[in-house]
Amino acid sequence: MGRLENKVAVVTGATSGIGEAVALMYVKEGAKVVTVGRNEEKGKVLTDKIAAMGGESIFVSCDLRKKESIETLKKAAYDRFGKVDILFNSAGVLVHKPFLDHTDEDFDFIMETNYRAYVWTMQAFLPEMVKAGKGNIINVASISSVWPELNAYYYGAMKAAVTNLSRNVAKEFARQGIRINCILPGPINTGMTPEDIKNSKEAQDAMINSVCMLGRLGEPDDIAYGAVYLGSDESSFVTGTNLVIDGGVCISN
Ligand SMILES: NC(=O)c1ccc[n+]([C@@H]2O[C@H](COP(=O)([O-])OP(=O)(O)OC[C@H]3O[C@@H](n4cnc5c(N)ncnc54)[C@H](OP(=O)(O)O)[C@@H]3O)[C@@H](O)[C@H]2O)c1
Repeated sequence: MGRLENKVAVVTGATSGIGEAVALMYVKEGAKVVTVGRNEEKGKVLTDKIAAMGGESIFVSCDLRKKESIETLKKAAYDRFGKVDILFNSAGVLVHKPFLDHTDEDFDFIMETNYRAYVWTMQAFLPEMVKAGKGNIINVASISSVWPELNAYYYGAMKAAVTNLSRNVAKEFARQGIRINCILPGPINTGMTPEDIKNSKEAQDAMINSVCMLGRLGEPDDIAYGAVYLGSDESSFVTGTNLVIDGGVCISN
């Protein structure tokens, strides 16, 4: 028996990296999954992969910067599965450059994807969770919510905003059977790894050695293990918290 048997999860950012690993591990643990992203080709590949594992899922193509897309997502999830137990918000983007080069467009891009989409998805799914008397929301923030990180100024600020929002909303809904937590990943090997680090072994080694006690980049599955714990009833006494999975990040790069 899987640890997420009989649960339905919506996983945003499932076409890549952390979200994809979480969707696949949730299926392995018995959940039915609604996968979300904009890239329909990758969505189809993921749906086929899940079917080959004997799992059940639908892919919803959705730009989370658009409110009407989130309504479409909600309808698709409830039409297909009749309930949503877990909302796992992983969709995110990175702008990585010196502070004075950050533009207003960068601000909108980061704020709309990494913060406002999390607000909107929580507002979309919470009312049904309240009616059901149970629900579980996991928001992916970042170690840069709490540690300084060069070149990720708007990004880090919005990730800090997600941790703050999650804890406060957790307080409002805790007595209605709903838990809301964040995962704070450190450097994870995904499509989001900045190009300058991805393309240079030297830069990668320097980054890992200066930032991470365990001396390696994390893999998406390192986050997925935490996502299973927070998504399962094993964590029923956990809400409003930040689960740090970062290889022991201890100093700023
Ligand atoms: N990798 C790291 O080192 C690291 C560290 C700390 C925190 N995080 C956080 O972890 C989360 C996942 O990142 P990742 O590393 O897995 O990155 P990734 O591989 O680049 O995946 C990002 C995902 O977000 C989706 N996405 C982006 N904009 C979207 C939009 N407007 N609407 C719908 N989906 C959108 C992408 O899907 P489509 O392209 O299909 O739209 C993709 O599936 C992010 O919130 C990130 O900030 C990552």
